[in-house]
Amino acid sequence: MTSFPTPYTIAIIGAASGIGRAAASLMAGRGAAVICLDRDGEGARRAANEIAAAGGKAAGYALEITDRSQKAVWDAVLRESGQLHALVNCAGVTGKTNLKVHEVDPDDFDLVYRINMLGPLLVSQAVLPHMMEKNYGRILHLASIAGKDGNAGMTAYSATKAGVIGLVKSMGKDYAETGITINALAPAVIRTPMVAALPEAQVAYMTDKIPMKRCGELEEAAEMIAWIVSPACSFTTGFTFDLSGGRAVY
Ligand SMILES: NC(=O)c1ccc[n+]([C@@H]2O[C@H](COP(=O)([O-])OP(=O)(O)OC[C@H]3O[C@@H](n4cnc5c(N)ncnc54)[C@H](O)[C@@H]3O)[C@@H](O)[C@H]2O)c1
Repeated sequence: MTSFPTPYTIAIIGAASGIGRAAASLMAGRGAAVICLDRDGEGARRAANEIAAAGGKAAGYALEITDRSQKAVWDAVLRESGQLHALVNCAGVTGKTNLKVHEVDPDDFDLVYRINMLGPLLVSQAVLPHMMEKNYGRILHLASIAGKDGNAGMTAYSATKAGVIGLVKSMGKDYAETGITINALAPAVIRTPMVAALPEAQVAYMTDKIPMKRCGELEEAAEMIAWIVSPACSFTTGFTFDLSGGRAVY
């Protein structure tokens, strides 16, 4: 079971809901101080309050990851923590789904691109100078099995999640000679508000492809996230971890 040294501060983006929310709770329960960030600032603060009420160390702030001027938020996070040891980026959207490519709205594609792909670049850029100064860091971005396989009906999502996989391959190598690792995690279907908002036909298409014939659990995602951003995961960078019930073949 992963546990964290003290102090160990982890910022989680997308902490108001789903996988980010579950990871924040689990990692706080294992001794990390968690900074909950989300464009839903109220949700981020609520998550932090609930974690603190359960005995964890937590703070919550609003953060829009497509915002190119995030400095004020990160300055506050660094002031609060002193050292930021890890960043887990769970912010993501599917955009419109169940559409063939000729039906895709370029504006929707652009929105999904900015959140799912430009966002990971921007938040990495925001924390890397601090991690370089400390010569230590763990960065984890949520990709998806859709980025490896390509899900029919999900062009923007599949393309941008493939982009995240490419992004971490490159970024991991950029910092491989430092104490910073940069990885991704590619889940198949995990029942969260994001999945609940998809058309049932789209969810059935994705779930039928899982050899274990079930969805992943939030706790399974949170456990893996905790280990990947812990000091114990020290010889892996630029890699996309699998969480797909046997669906992924690479
Ligand atoms: N649930 C799944 O089956 C599944 C599978 C593969 C990958 N993923 C990925 O895991 C991550 C988390 O997904 P989830 O299912 O927990 O989704 P979710 O919708 O439950 O939570 C996502 C959170 O991200 C926040 N967010 C969205 N856009 C943002 C932005 N621009 N700036 C800041 N915050 C923003 C939302 O407010 C929300 O709280 C996403 O990147 C998703 O693509 C999920």
